[in-house]
Amino acid sequence: MCGIAGLFIGCALEAVCPKRLLAQDLSAAPEQEPYKSKFGDWYERSTVRAAPRRMVLKDEQGLFFSPDFIPIMKHPLIQEQSDTVKRNIMVQQLYRYLDFTAKLEHVVVNRVAMSIANGYLDFNLPREMVFDAYKIYCDEAYHALFSADLLMQVEDLTGIRAVTQQLQPYFIRRLHELQHQYSESNLQELVEIFFVIISETLISGFLSDIPTARDVKPSIRAVVRDHAIDEGKHHVYFADFLKRIWPQLDRRYRKEIGKLLPSLIYAFLSPDVDSIRTELSSYGIPRDHIEQVIAETYTKEIVSSHIANSISSLGRYLRELGILDDPEVQDRFYEAGLLKREDLILG
Ligand SMILES: [Fe+2]
Ligand SMILES: [Fe+2]
Repeated sequence: MCGIAGLFIGCALEAVCPKRLLAQDLSAAPEQEPYKSKFGDWYERSTVRAAPRRMVLKDEQGLFFSPDFIPIMKHPLIQEQSDTVKRNIMVQQLYRYLDFTAKLEHVVVNRVAMSIANGYLDFNLPREMVFDAYKIYCDEAYHALFSADLLMQVEDLTGIRAVTQQLQPYFIRRLHELQHQYSESNLQELVEIFFVIISETLISGFLSDIPTARDVKPSIRAVVRDHAIDEGKHHVYFADFLKRIWPQLDRRYRKEIGKLLPSLIYAFLSPDVDSIRTELSSYGIPRDHIEQVIAETYTKEIVSSHIANSISSLGRYLRELGILDDPEVQDRFYEAGLLKREDLILG
């Protein structure tokens, strides 16, 4: 218990408080490097503090989403659809991306940012790093807000309603499945913490592509660029956070989490085929055609090679910490197609 809880009988924070035996004896924790904050100019430069609200204008040129970032668009059964359906697919892909972002920030990342900021995690962390988690919390809350705002603006402008917003995104369903395979609450909390480390060190990579897609409306590119600027700092923070907490973790937890990392990476990066299936059904595309589009677009090989190519910097952090030295962890990475046996190089 954290001390605060002792003031009460039955702490109200208990459900979200992972400060329970996560770490080994902290007095044995290795000497840490000084913390170099990336948030020194946060009050002047962060999106929530400095960027204007982005508005999608009626006469703005450009697409709602680049077809280059919608893999099903290249499939012949989609190519033969009307221009209206193809336009709807682009708009729904934007909605899917925005809904994914809003829920990732609110439902997952900010739970962990809050735990760090409030000292609920039993890790030895620099004081300034703990304080920076408040800034990340504000950033993520605003990322969720501007995503929801943009989604509503585009709905109002186009008259096209989001068809899959009521469906829980795949990554949340899968994360909960992975958490609940453990009965121990410490491990459930650690699974969420490591999912956040993974998402925060990977998201900056794919956010950097969309602003360069010239065919997309400038206002939408601006929203993604705003997000990318903040996430560049979050990436550095969570890479540093990983480096500091890994040596402090109990050996048993290290083994379990190491083995689970490929599943967490897949949970974050896998396509949400349930959402795509629901969307394509809404256009009246026959069931067998939908299944053919999904099966031929997202083969096991295509998905695993895409994921392997997306995790190069995360792979470097895992290697530097010796996480991939464990043969059981290596096996899980091999099986997931994320590690090549011949050279032990990720991707
Ligand atoms: Fe974010
Ligand atoms: Fe973030």
